[in-house]
Amino acid sequence: MSTIEKFNEHVMQTYGRLPIVLEKGKGREAVDENGKEYIDFGSGIGTNSLGYCDDKWADAVCAQVRSIQHTSNYFYTKVQADFAERLCAVTGYKNVFFGNSGAEANECAIKLARKYSFDKYGKCRHTIVTLVNSFHGRTIATLSATGQEVFHNYFFPFVEGFVNTPANDIEALRKVISEDKTVCAVMFEFVQGEGGVNPLDKAFVEEIFKLCGENDILTIADEVQTGVGRTGTFLASEQYGVKPDITSLAKGIAGGVPMGACLASEKCADVLVKGTHGSTFGGNPIACAGANAVLDRVTEKGFLEDVMKKSEYFKKKLAEIPEVEGVDGLGLMLGVRLKTKKAADILTAAAEKGLLILTAKEKLRFLPPLTITYEEIDKGMEILGELLK
Ligand SMILES: Cc1ncc(COP(=O)(O)O)c(C=O)c1O
Repeated sequence: MSTIEKFNEHVMQTYGRLPIVLEKGKGREAVDENGKEYIDFGSGIGTNSLGYCDDKWADAVCAQVRSIQHTSNYFYTKVQADFAERLCAVTGYKNVFFGNSGAEANECAIKLARKYSFDKYGKCRHTIVTLVNSFHGRTIATLSATGQEVFHNYFFPFVEGFVNTPANDIEALRKVISEDKTVCAVMFEFVQGEGGVNPLDKAFVEEIFKLCGENDILTIADEVQTGVGRTGTFLASEQYGVKPDITSLAKGIAGGVPMGACLASEKCADVLVKGTHGSTFGGNPIACAGANAVLDRVTEKGFLEDVMKKSEYFKKKLAEIPEVEGVDGLGLMLGVRLKTKKAADILTAAAEKGLLILTAKEKLRFLPPLTITYEEIDKGMEILGELLK
């Protein structure tokens, strides 16, 4: 049986996969089982932040595997302590809970917000406002939080206590917060990724923070996709000039090893106490070693400025393609609106030509490794330009 046949027989068919079996990768290039090379503008949905098998990252992960691979959280490890300290220093948060995915980071954020409110106000102040078109994960609670009807199917009953309001609609947000006295948090992505790479308006974000501040409602930023340098600043919140009470991270944080992180500010750092939350694998030493290597690189002088410059270059190149109607997004998280062609068709055609890209709703989506070079951008753009002729 071929690899694809084995998948079809023995792996649940929950994904729409391209018919490509990836075998290895180096830098920004992946290689399939037939030796065909692909430039990667998707980086495993923004996860291989340093590309494939970056030398220093691989050395750190391999050294950790050979030292101690797992301990459970009944014990302490230096590598987790070091990463937590450094992550808090870079982001300005007080402490962190480690899980293994974006959904888990958001689960922690939801629990934290509800307990903060429970501790102060008692039962029934538990509602979390999320935005229409948001995406927060695939667990039952994070699906309930996700503001897209298409996900609210089959798995009834969903978790109670989530209401949606349209992104960038200040009046609607004011109405919810003034009328619903059970609200304990507002949760949002600065750039809705899965929803189509749509950045929030600054005025809307300012209003979230104003209303939440006035009503002791916590702000939860889901930076699972936007975080760790993806948008050209370590956190996207920096570009909006705000400091959420809670920020969730995952995807690129550990360079391709599973990790999720929920960061808490001083105000809510002591809410989750012994026995209220946990994860067997959370803060696993291998993931922390990978995360430290990512942090080393992303915090190097000039690295994030380069991400911004490459973003500008990407946008300039895209604007030269006549079929491109417009480009949305921040940093190296870009969504491309096409005039006539369907993004899904381009995805398949691009892969055939040796370029891996993503889609989000009706747009092409680029989440290249943060280490992508100008030459690689040119090479990918050449393929894309041909396909969009
Ligand atoms: C903003 C956001 N939140 C949460 C998630 C869920 O992350 P995971 O698939 O790691 O659970 C995603 C995944 O795409 C995401 O983009």
